[in-house]
Amino acid sequence: MSDSIWAGVDEFLSSALVGPDAALTGALAASDAEGLPAIAVSACQGRMLEVLARGVGARRILEIGTLGGFSTIFLARALPADGRVITLELNAHHAAVARRNVDAAGVGERVEIRVGAALELLEEIERHAAGPFDFSFIDADKANAAAYFSAALRLSRPGALIVVDNVVRKGALLDEASTDENVRGMRRLVEQVAAEGRVTATVVQTVGAKGYDGFLIAVVEK
Ligand code: SAH
Ligand code: DHB
Ligand code: MG
Repeated sequence: MSDSIWAGVDEFLSSALVGPDAALTGALAASDAEGLPAIAVSACQGRMLEVLARGVGARRILEIGTLGGFSTIFLARALPADGRVITLELNAHHAAVARRNVDAAGVGERVEIRVGAALELLEEIERHAAGPFDFSFIDADKANAAAYFSAALRLSRPGALIVVDNVVRKGALLDEASTDENVRGMRRLVEQVAAEGRVTATVVQTVGAKGYDGFLIAVVEK
């Protein structure tokens, strides 16, 4: 089996289930034209975030790593009209592109983009008691994933979901001797979550347009 059959099936499924969607294709085209890297979640993965956020009745969502706002659009669509996504992005250019994309998608009123290093922004969110959140999506620098998970957990309501992207990295997760900071970060995350009594968690391995990877999905205990 190859990446090409995974990509073909992904294309079939996203056409069938997500469909042609001008907001989504427009967001990807604008991100590409502005030189952003093509590392957004796939459409089916974005829809998974939307389904999970809807499933917990999310009204407040935290996203760490905005890029051009592709995943943000799905998260915002999961919200009622008075719901909010707070999304954190280090790169001001990425944030500016995301602002235009979420506005063009008609969900701009539900999206607050904060620019800066996520660890600092999270401290500020905790200081100002801007939580609790019903759903968190962690998708920024992988070396800090465990620290982001801790912060998201402190900011979560009981029953909230926390989802982390890019945990499996083509199987590199298995390499305990890896010197790759991304891999080490994800190994630390899994160890930390395994030892964390306040969540029940799993990792779902995925294939598709983005190759072989996986999501950690955790529910915060009541
Ligand atoms: N969630 C997006 C993809 C995010 S890509 C989607 O699926 O559409 C990762 C993003 O995290 C990049 O835009 C990068 O600039 C941002 N990032 C990297 N380090 C960061 C940090 N320390 N704080 C906040 N954002 C960071
Ligand atoms: C990368 C980051 C991501 O969030 C992703 O989903 C895929 C790739 C990266 O930095 O290479
Ligand atoms: Mg990702």
